[in-house]
Amino acid sequence: MSCFAFAVLCPIRQDAAYFGLFGVLFAAAVGVSTGNNWCRALAKLLLPPELYRHLRHSGVLSDTLLPNGWEWNLFVNRLTAAVVVVLLMQLGINFAPTAESIRVTLEWRDLRYTVPVGRRRQRTSKTILEGLSAVLPPGRLLAIMGPTGCGKSSLVNALAGRLPAGGSLEGEVLVNGLPRGRGFKSITAYVMQDDVLFPNLTVFETMEFAARMRLPPSVSAAEKAARVEAVINELGLAKCRDTYIGSAFVRGVSGGERKRVNVGVELLSNPQLLLLDEPTSGLDAFQAQNVMESLQNLAQGGRSVVATIHQPRSSIYSLFDMLLVLSEGRDMYYGPAGEAVAWFESCGFACPAHYNPADFFADIVAIDHRSPAAEEASKARIALLVDRFNQRQQQQREAEQAAAVPAEDQAAMEKINDRPSFPNPLPTEFSLLLRRAWKQQSRDRLPQVITLVQTLVLGFVLAALFSDIPTTLAGAQDELGVLFMSCMFNTMASIFASLNTFPAEAGIIQRERISKAYHVSPYYVARFLCDLPLRVAQSLLFGVIVYWIVGLKGTAAAFFIFCALTILLALASQALGVAVSAACPSEKVAFAVAPGITVILMLFAGFLVTYESIPAWLRWICYLSHLYYAFMGLTINNFRGSSEWSCNTSATPGCAGASGDAILTRLGFEGKGVWEPFVGLACLALGYNLAGYAVLRFSKQKFIPLTASTAKKRA
Ligand SMILES: Nc1ncnc2c1ncn2[C@@H]1O[C@H](COP(=O)(O)OP(=O)(O)OP(=O)(O)O)[C@@H](O)[C@H]1O
Ligand SMILES: [Mg+2]
Repeated sequence: MSCFAFAVLCPIRQDAAYFGLFGVLFAAAVGVSTGNNWCRALAKLLLPPELYRHLRHSGVLSDTLLPNGWEWNLFVNRLTAAVVVVLLMQLGINFAPTAESIRVTLEWRDLRYTVPVGRRRQRTSKTILEGLSAVLPPGRLLAIMGPTGCGKSSLVNALAGRLPAGGSLEGEVLVNGLPRGRGFKSITAYVMQDDVLFPNLTVFETMEFAARMRLPPSVSAAEKAARVEAVINELGLAKCRDTYIGSAFVRGVSGGERKRVNVGVELLSNPQLLLLDEPTSGLDAFQAQNVMESLQNLAQGGRSVVATIHQPRSSIYSLFDMLLVLSEGRDMYYGPAGEAVAWFESCGFACPAHYNPADFFADIVAIDHRSPAAEEASKARIALLVDRFNQRQQQQREAEQAAAVPAEDQAAMEKINDRPSFPNPLPTEFSLLLRRAWKQQSRDRLPQVITLVQTLVLGFVLAALFSDIPTTLAGAQDELGVLFMSCMFNTMASIFASLNTFPAEAGIIQRERISKAYHVSPYYVARFLCDLPLRVAQSLLFGVIVYWIVGLKGTAAAFFIFCALTILLALASQALGVAVSAACPSEKVAFAVAPGITVILMLFAGFLVTYESIPAWLRWICYLSHLYYAFMGLTINNFRGSSEWSCNTSATPGCAGASGDAILTRLGFEGKGVWEPFVGLACLALGYNLAGYAVLRFSKQKFIPLTASTAKKRA
């Protein structure tokens, strides 16, 4: 009964089977056990973590599940409550606590980041961060400064947990005294140096999508809209609200506006910790000031903000609460920005009057490579500053240990770590992604125009070449050529369309996935559906032109079968393009690999080399080639039952001509129904799509995990 209820009530979720299984075992466990903890442990083991957390937070799976042992009515109540919770979850109602009001104390201890350098035998390791430690209290704007290559971006990435795999990271990063848990991403905004946004959406649409996708359904639509407006105004984006983001091909917002949109997208989820890498790079002084003032406002509102910055002007410098100066991956100063000048002065390096402190620090912590003497002098100066700072930190550490993180902040973080990872249920994710993909795609006119014009041109060229096919054996060969070319055109056009469009959005998807904005499955399906009309239009247009001008089998049924097969072929090819694109490390590699794969599949299509002529041990490749099934289908459709193809006896004396079925026999397609290639092609289209999905799902960028520092491990 409970099994049935769970399975029926959750049909739109992928894990219906899970629910069914849970229902059976839940009932059985409660029935045989008087110890209720048993039940809860079982539920934890069997349920998807998200559902388990919702049930726990809603009180359904409390410690005293059935307080007085087995009672039917209590059990039914609990079960009904569980069903209601699941239903409400489907409607997007969140039972877990939200992150709105948490204050974040960020601490890092002895962070050490090393990367391997050099090739093979000469491989050594390079230390980029050399044991950095600091505590950032809530409501502060911390600026990380230092010469280029000193490790600023590496530090921000290490704090965000986004250092690319390949090196090793040791130390500790604590949020409110706790190691970064699953809730860390939901309270953190991470703004990268390079902005990645959809070029064909307006500023407002970009923001609106981010708000809908990243905020849980417990935030009402009106609140989401209000937040979008607030962020647009806060970041001074009102005047470009309806301007496209733009790209190299589409005129859009300015560089500064683009940067602010990027920051804004992250701000919409109301993060309590902001980690920004060079938020002002590429901006003029005025825009840089605006962005930094916005960040200061956010910090004053209680958020913790960490931003790397290159040579800020004095007015920007005065906005910082805290300052971290790095040189060669080492701490040179960490503390209140207002005390930095006095600190360096106490070390013997006084900032001249009317001098921008930021410029002064940049000068004294940089290594001067102009001459060996200058290099030595600057290294000695840095060593002295590092030494002095280490002494200061030693003293400060004792004071910091006394000022522990407030217990309520720590408890709030614990709750957030217990929250579900994705803010929205799958149906909401799907509808939002479908809308965005459709807008982006329908406005990206150039590839569509190119596809359709190319289809027209190629269709007419092919039709002109084969417009007058005789009913001789040579004519049959020409028709086979037309059918093969139809397969090739639909394959190439679709694969390369995917290779062209997919990499452009891969960066955005990667970023959104890392932020746990949505699952891959709704993204993949939405993308497939948005590509569908163009693929169908392309195949139909090509079919209409070529089929009738060339004069292939003249029945309506044969024409529709031709179109259906070429559409299926195009869809399979599109999926193959996505799979190749997602599996390759770069666009260039994908473009190099795709033609090779296409040629192999083409060789096994059954036209250039017939199935019978392919060595037996290689024939299995035919069954992986969508071109094989498509060509087989088109050929059977065109030649089965067709009348005699005559022979030009003056050219080839003794030639007897052949029926359509005889031609099919020669190609190795005898005895096959037209449904067979349909099924094969449909299975391959599905298989390629599953492969594309799987590659995308598992090609998530890998980051270095944080390990305890070696010193600690040894201890
Ligand atoms: N994966 C890596 N392999 C080798 N060297 C690396 C790697 N990552 C970073 N580095 C090196 O580490 C140093 C610090 O890099 P990082 O990007 O953190 O510097 P930065 O302070 O942000 O510089 P900039 O101000 O120019 O952005 C640089 O010398 C860089 O070349
Ligand atoms: Mg950098």
